[in-house]
Amino acid sequence: MVTAVCPGSFDPVHNGHLDVIERAWPLFDKVIVGVLVNPAKAGLFTPDERIEMILAATVHLQGIEVRSFSGLLVDFCRIAGAGVIVKGLRAVTDFEYEMAQAQMNKYMGVDTVFTVTSPEYAFVRSTLLKDVVSLDGSIDGLVPDAVASKLKQCLRPAKD
Ligand code: PNS
Repeated sequence: MVTAVCPGSFDPVHNGHLDVIERAWPLFDKVIVGVLVNPAKAGLFTPDERIEMILAATVHLQGIEVRSFSGLLVDFCRIAGAGVIVKGLRAVTDFEYEMAQAQMNKYMGVDTVFTVTSPEYAFVRSTLLKDVVSLDGSIDGLVPDAVASKLKQCLRPAKD
C-alpha cells in the first residue's frame, strides 16, 4: 500500500494544484493533501478555509484526505504513513528549487515524484491570482468557482 502526500500552502488552491492532485490520485493507493500551516506567514485564508476549499474541489476523488501540518514535511509523511511526496513542475524555473527540496527530503528519508503541470496551468500561482483579483481582473477557468467567489469576497471590498 503506497500513500502519497501532495503538499503545499494552497492559499488558495487553484486548477494547477488540482491538476497535480487529480493525476496523483490514480497512481497511489491513498493520496493525502497536506496544507502547510506556517505560523510566520498568516496568508489570506485560514488553514481551515483552505482545507474546506480543497475538500469541495476534490469530492470526486474517492478516499482523498486533506489535512494540515506544521513543521517538517517528512515528519508529516511519517505520521501519515506516506512514503512518497508528489509535486508539480510548472516550468524550468521551478526545477532548481524543487530539486533541492526533493534532495533534502530524500536525505531525510522520503522520496519525491514529479508531475509536469498541464500547459494551460503552467503560469498559475496563488500569489498572481490574488494580485489579479485585487485589481479587478478575471481569473475565470484558473480556479474552481467557489474559490473565485471567496477571493472576490476577501479582496474586493464592496464599493459604494
Ligand atoms: O505551495 P508551496 O508554498 O510552494 O509549498 C511549499 C511546501 C509546503 C511544500 C514546503 O514549504 C514544505 O515542505 N514546507 C514544510 C517545511 C519543510 O519540510 N521544509 C524543508 C523542505 S526540504
